[in-house]
Amino acid sequence: MTAEYKVHGDIAVITLNNPPVNGLGLATRQGIVAGLEQANADAAVKAIVLTGAGKAFSGGADIKEFGSPKALQEPNLLSVIGAVEKSAKPVVAAVHSVAMGGGLELALGAHYRIAAPGTQVALPEVKLGLIPGAGGTQRLPRVLGVETALNLIVSGEPVKSELLASLPGQKLFDKLAASAESLPEEALALAREVAAKHAADGSAFPLVRNLPCKHPLGDAYFQFARNMVKGMAKNYPAPGKCVDAVQAATQKKFDDGMVFERDLFINLMWTPECRALRHLFVAERAASKIPDVADDTPKRDIRQVGVIGAGTMGGGITMNFLNAGIPVKMLEMKQEALDRGIATIRKNYEAQVKKGKLKQDKYEQRMSLLSTTLSYDDLKDADLIIEAVFEEMDVKEAVFKQLDAVAKPGAILASNTSTLDVDKIASFTQRPQDVVGMHFFSPANVMKLLEVVRGKATAKDVLATVMAVAKKIKKTAVVSGVCDGFIGNRMIEQYSRQAGFLLEEGATPAQVDKAVEKFGFAMGPFRMGDLAGNDIGWAIRKRRYTEKPDLKYSKTADLLCELGRYGQKTGAGWYDYVPGKRDAIPSQLVVDMIEKHRKDLGITPRKISDEEIVQRLVFSLVNEAAHILEEGIASKASDIDMVYLTGYGFPIWRGGPMHYADQLGLFNVAEAMKRFAKNPLDDAKFWQPAPLLARLVAEGKTFN
Ligand code: NAI
Repeated sequence: MTAEYKVHGDIAVITLNNPPVNGLGLATRQGIVAGLEQANADAAVKAIVLTGAGKAFSGGADIKEFGSPKALQEPNLLSVIGAVEKSAKPVVAAVHSVAMGGGLELALGAHYRIAAPGTQVALPEVKLGLIPGAGGTQRLPRVLGVETALNLIVSGEPVKSELLASLPGQKLFDKLAASAESLPEEALALAREVAAKHAADGSAFPLVRNLPCKHPLGDAYFQFARNMVKGMAKNYPAPGKCVDAVQAATQKKFDDGMVFERDLFINLMWTPECRALRHLFVAERAASKIPDVADDTPKRDIRQVGVIGAGTMGGGITMNFLNAGIPVKMLEMKQEALDRGIATIRKNYEAQVKKGKLKQDKYEQRMSLLSTTLSYDDLKDADLIIEAVFEEMDVKEAVFKQLDAVAKPGAILASNTSTLDVDKIASFTQRPQDVVGMHFFSPANVMKLLEVVRGKATAKDVLATVMAVAKKIKKTAVVSGVCDGFIGNRMIEQYSRQAGFLLEEGATPAQVDKAVEKFGFAMGPFRMGDLAGNDIGWAIRKRRYTEKPDLKYSKTADLLCELGRYGQKTGAGWYDYVPGKRDAIPSQLVVDMIEKHRKDLGITPRKISDEEIVQRLVFSLVNEAAHILEEGIASKASDIDMVYLTGYGFPIWRGGPMHYADQLGLFNVAEAMKRFAKNPLDDAKFWQPAPLLARLVAEGKTFN
């Protein structure tokens, strides 16, 4: 059992002990109930303290039980809370560190609560597309008042215990302990005190369920709250249901409110949004696991970082480490380049200071961790060196040969290349086992995604170290094998090709973008092209025309580039731009250019539905992803979802391309692809289902 039982004098202490966060899995729930029974059966025990071992009171549901029938097996959480409420001896919850979700709901069932300062209190269910399902929406408003409780429930964000304890009239905590260290003693004292009081006056134990629950404005307040929430969370049903549930707490009898909450909870569980968010939760954790690299692989110490190249990427990469308190030495060829790089970093930080997002002293502290050099010798102490120089193999060769000559043994040598062969780069050194790709996304100080490119020779401890470093600098790291474009860009290339075919057939850039943005992408393909620079895709296509001459491409993007319309940086691209502004204004010139191109090809344009646009673009991602998965470039489908959710603006509530395809049914995806293949203007070869996709369809299986 994962809850311990001990008696201290006349007080029984039940301690949840299910590391890392005392998740309320079946064994823990059984332990709590058994402890309560034992305490109630022992005449020498006068009261009970319920607390958690280690780093949490309880973080809530046990993620290992996610989606398994064990989660519902008796005693389920509702029964455990019922047993606490019904205990014949008073129960004091002693919370510390983390009291979240089911953990907080459990504490709310206790007769008394004492908290250590610094406890993170939250009902984060909304982040998984749910509402609290074990009384949270009914009890929290009774102890904190409707507004405070609703804010907590709708945001899912943690609030510190001392802040909540300071709210006038709050009944969440009966007492705030002086410190985490004194909590156990103070909890025992409180338990003795309340046991004596109830013994003396014979009063009933206080229960949160018996407290009144009202808002002075009544339903008008909830109407207001609902409007607020609708505006903020238009793609998610759960926040609105939080409002409904809390409103029910003010309208219904407690037990009826509980039933209402339960119904909402169960209905939400099966919504696509909840499935997607739960998938994301699991996928995020799975991404850091590499099938053949054990969790306990020893990691190398990373205390000092070197960055080569102070350009767009080098500067952003550097900021990540400074933000995490890790010193960085930047190397360039010329002092001017270093000066420019530093000025950009300063400008970025100063903008944050101006917005009030960064304190002046923090800014200075970060800058003090940064040093620069023009000499490779100064990198001899670096534990990790990341190269972000020009994207040319000759330049990379020169850099890695020099690094090999000066870097200390065991230093990790990483390249930020986005297209070059990491194995070839590794071969420029005598230590290919220490070479790895760290593919950051632009702007590197903002974007969450980091593709960790595993070379043929990359050592396991190098991978383990880089994954740990990624976590430290707050990136979502996904491992990719070596191939052109790695996971993300290899897929986006097919998506861009397909976007080009759509233009030739009759769509406009604005129509395509609108359809894709309505689906939920942060940006459609053409707005994205204008932002990133259309010349980048042009350079890649030119390479492809010689490498793969029979690959079909639409020429529209080339025609655009021939006009010098590279995007925002040239003031014009697929759209027109007003100087100094980023608003994309549909361009008549571009529409005329596309029409002329169609005429030249003898194409009669047709109206293409938004649904077809979205399907062709998303399924082009899915089919390439199936190749990537089959080739082992990605080790699991959920990694591909993470890449698209964190690096390419795929709508979170759709769970990523693979999850989305799974939910649609792979059979349906394959059928749609067959239809697209018959379209004479599309590329039939393009829509040849990847062997893995075909196999999964035949076997009735899914990617994830
Ligand atoms: P950039 O042109 O802004 O910066 C490159 C910097 O490297 C320049 O400051 C240059 O002076 C310096 N440099 C060139 N050769 C050098 C050498 N031998 N020693 C020291 N410094 C040298 O280029 P950017 O955009 O920062 O790209 C750098 C790398 O990052 C490339 O490999 C690129 O493919 C990759 N990358 C770029 C992304 C982007 O969106 N810009 C995204 C992901 C990766």
